Amino acid sequence: MAKSLFVCQSCGSEHRKWSGQCSDCGEWNSITEQVIETSTARTGGKGKVLSTSSITDISREQKARRSTDIEELDRVLGGGLVPGSAILIGGDPGIGKSTLLLQAAAKLAASDKAKQVLYVTGEESVQQVRMRGERIEALDENLMLVSACELESILATIDKTRPGIVIVDSIQTTVSSRLTSAPGTVSQVRDCAAALIQSAKQKGHAMILVGHVTKDGALAGPRVLEHMVDAVIYFEGDRGHAHRILRAVKNRFGPAGEIGVFEMTDRGLLGIVDASRLFLAERSADTPGSVVLACMEGTRPLLVEVQALIAPTVYSTPKRSAVGLDTGRVAMLTAVLERRIGLPLSQHDVYVNIAGGARIAEPAADLAVLLAMVSAYQERAVPHDVVVFGEVGLTGEIRPVGQPEARAREAANLGFTHLLLPKENHQRVQKANIIANMRSSTKSPLQLSAV
Ligand code: TYD
Ligand code: MG
Repeated sequence: MAKSLFVCQSCGSEHRKWSGQCSDCGEWNSITEQVIETSTARTGGKGKVLSTSSITDISREQKARRSTDIEELDRVLGGGLVPGSAILIGGDPGIGKSTLLLQAAAKLAASDKAKQVLYVTGEESVQQVRMRGERIEALDENLMLVSACELESILATIDKTRPGIVIVDSIQTTVSSRLTSAPGTVSQVRDCAAALIQSAKQKGHAMILVGHVTKDGALAGPRVLEHMVDAVIYFEGDRGHAHRILRAVKNRFGPAGEIGVFEMTDRGLLGIVDASRLFLAERSADTPGSVVLACMEGTRPLLVEVQALIAPTVYSTPKRSAVGLDTGRVAMLTAVLERRIGLPLSQHDVYVNIAGGARIAEPAADLAVLLAMVSAYQERAVPHDVVVFGEVGLTGEIRPVGQPEARAREAANLGFTHLLLPKENHQRVQKANIIANMRSSTKSPLQLSAV
């Protein structure tokens, strides 16, 4: 039986009738008709009684994770790939998803000869993938390639070859012949992903789905899949910079918020263990408006440079602009400076930037942002060997932040000698007795200034 449904390509909601605007997300011209060939209506029959078990009786057995042999990727995955799990890797086109997965696929294929790794490419020919594999030295005879788009054929191939790991690049090019809608539409993406995820759960292979994030709405964003998979990993970075950040935004098998840092080279993606050094590489010492912040990305401390520029405005409403930080937060900190310290910023534009393209979401960046703004306004440089962290409240109070020791240790490791921190964090860091790793042979405790 054929059934017609009207699906919003922006948010995925289903409607009975077509309309110009989606009543759920408000998007215009996003609703398209889709005909589903077979009836999927529930019959309303009686279900069978399922047996339940006490939580304490369930075995603790943990499936062995498979390391990808790429340290930065393993960290984001929470230690490696879990058999039977489904992972979505999203990111802008051209950011490096296929490159990273080909590298991982070759390493996984080499590490376990008993099970093949299946790489399904719907966007490139197998020759193109092989050529890329050669360039980045990702070749292994146990890595099987197939160029395919049809879901049913992919599932049949998985059934027949029983691989240990399946990579589908990308979910937007995969189409089910059961649906009449075009590739990349919400219903195609959702149905194909559901079938692929189910095959992973049933057969025990790890399933990695690649999804492009596009703003123009031509392809359904992977956001509709986020709740279906076990882990969602986003690959970020801008084309202007060589480094890329892999970020776990959801992970049922490990901590979310964990990041991996890579550099795109002509031989593929290179993991960067010492990410702080990378983000501080282009810092020019003793420049007004520049402050080094110690932030946390998951369990990992990261030093980044916060830059501020304050200039008299030519607009009727002065600008508050932020790159790599929340603009609302920067506007709030500007107001705090005006009201609590009396800095007359109402006639000035304020620009704040995290150098190197990193994005910081934690409030622990507040104090560094504040300091960078004051330094820019007064045109006085903050000494180059100082690192800062701390949250700032609306009354201008400085609040403590989590994991101060890890932040302090990272600062010391990178050769910084002074730490400006909230007074409630002072004791913990002092107890940790962190020794500054100075370039000269004299080693002394990291100097702490509490505020
Ligand atoms: P790709 O992995 O194809 O991106 P995605 O799958 O996310 O769309 O990466 C494409 C970009 O990476 C392309 O612009 C070329 C660049 N690149 C390198 O710089 N070095 C390399 O070794 C490879 C394979 C790609
Ligand atoms: Mg690709």
